[in-house]
Amino acid sequence: MSAAMRTRPSLFATAVGKKYAMAISGLVLMGYVLLHMVGNLKIYFGAESLNKYAEWLREIGEPALPREWLLWGLRFVLLAAVFVHIYAAYSLTVMNRRARPVQYVSKRDYVAADFASRTMRWTGIIVVLFVVWHLLDLTWGTTNPDFVSGDVYHNVIASFERIPVAIAYVIANLALGVHLYHGAWSLFQSMGWYGTWRRTFSIAFAGVVVLGNVSFPLAVMFGVVN
Ligand code: HEM
Repeated sequence: MSAAMRTRPSLFATAVGKKYAMAISGLVLMGYVLLHMVGNLKIYFGAESLNKYAEWLREIGEPALPREWLLWGLRFVLLAAVFVHIYAAYSLTVMNRRARPVQYVSKRDYVAADFASRTMRWTGIIVVLFVVWHLLDLTWGTTNPDFVSGDVYHNVIASFERIPVAIAYVIANLALGVHLYHGAWSLFQSMGWYGTWRRTFSIAFAGVVVLGNVSFPLAVMFGVVN
């Protein structure tokens, strides 16, 4: 083995590798937020529809797999994507801040990464804080005083009937929208997928997810769903 091969860095150690990691984990997370929003549209079909759907999520894979195994598998993939996404973002930021940039990254790449990371950091932090609150609120019920285990519909209504909570959900989902828009755009850049459709896709994707998500707290606040 030549000296050059021995010292060759792993793909993740390079800026391009970190960007691939961000892009692929970002794609997994985009898939999740879209499917989660679509699943939650069942709120508009009533309590039975949403609660049946929540129960089905726990049953998928049965009888080949025991109850909740597939769901736990999906949760594991999701959690892994969250860690990779945050770690790659952190790692890219550290790399970008270094006084002496690595030779193989072009100057133009650096400017783009720096601009994106500045907007993405804050919306990303808001989304992470939101998810922590969201789990305490609707999964574990810690911050939802009226939480009833197994009655997802009731829990959503009980949560959004608190006006400050509903407003916080709207704000967090707007931040998610900005993050998704820039994120989708940068992901195409990182993967080398170029085309005029990129901007339209990024706006449409972020728009659909945000409109759906923001509609839930608003629907409860204005009594459309109760
Ligand atoms: C207003 C919009 C949203 C509503 C109404 C909503 C509703 C819910 C509900 C009811 C649950 C509990 C489901 C169950 O126990 O079966 C849940 C879980 C969850 N939500 Fe959301 N959600 C929203 C937005 C989001 C967003 C934007 C994210 C991510 C950025 C997210 C991430 C999660 C995660 C990770 C879980 C836990 C899933 C699991 O462990 O099975 N949610 N959501």
